[in-house]
Amino acid sequence: MRPYVFINAAMSADGKISAYTRKQIPISGEQDFQRVDRLKYGVDAIMVGIGTVLSDDPSLTVKSEELMKERLDLGKDENPIRIVVDSLARTPIYADILMKGAGRRVILVSGSAPGARLDRLREAGAEIVVAGEHQVDLASALGHLYGMGVRRLMVEGGGRLNWSLLSQGLVDAVYVYVGNMILGGESSPTLADGTGFSGIDGACQLELISLKQMDKGFVVEWQVK
Ligand SMILES: NC(=O)c1ccc[n+]([C@@H]2O[C@H](COP(=O)([O-])OP(=O)(O)OC[C@H]3O[C@@H](n4cnc5c(N)ncnc54)[C@H](OP(=O)(O)O)[C@@H]3O)[C@@H](O)[C@H]2O)c1
Repeated sequence: MRPYVFINAAMSADGKISAYTRKQIPISGEQDFQRVDRLKYGVDAIMVGIGTVLSDDPSLTVKSEELMKERLDLGKDENPIRIVVDSLARTPIYADILMKGAGRRVILVSGSAPGARLDRLREAGAEIVVAGEHQVDLASALGHLYGMGVRRLMVEGGGRLNWSLLSQGLVDAVYVYVGNMILGGESSPTLADGTGFSGIDGACQLELISLKQMDKGFVVEWQVK
């Protein structure tokens, strides 16, 4: 068993989720921030790859005080469980994900993560889950998260983590905000990086659920077939 998994991302009109500098850039706007905050409010856990932690240092907290309070009223933590996929336990102990906001943090590591780093992360308040020998085994990690009570999981990138989940058939839906700019750059991260499929036969097929104009772009919701 695994949680219901959806990817949420913002990309430029040419499919880039950041510029070649790999630093976070504003692709959407205020209305979209609120949409994303509401998505965070509604999930049990939110996951990113270590590449995103090192590039953007996101806190992944719910931003609206009202939504945080609503979660508390429902008997939940004010933030969903925040999860980093990090084979070698490279998450800095001063990362915002560990420093900011209340609630549980889980670092998914592989059996190759050095013990001293794991000790430091535990001291910083993280729970460690080992899945896989050299790289995090995502299918087994999702099974573990299900066992922890996670039923709805939001994935907030980046491109390599998205690819691994999509190519392994571990994603149920993809929500994308498409912004009104072209970023270009052959090394700029895209919605799904990794090796890619060789052709249409293996491609991950999607079914269009909704399309809505928002800020200066639009949001598209796909269900994975
Ligand atoms: N616009 C958006 O919506 C959005 C959202 C998030 C991020 N971003 C952008 O995306 C970029 C970061 O993306 P990224 O691709 O470099 O990093 P990423 O997808 O966040 O993290 C990738 C890393 O996760 C680790 N990992 C562990 N097990 C894995 C597995 N089974 N499959 C895949 N990865 C695994 C790997 O490092 P180890 O082997 O060391 O564990 C891998 O290099 C940044 O530029 C950021 O700004 C944009």
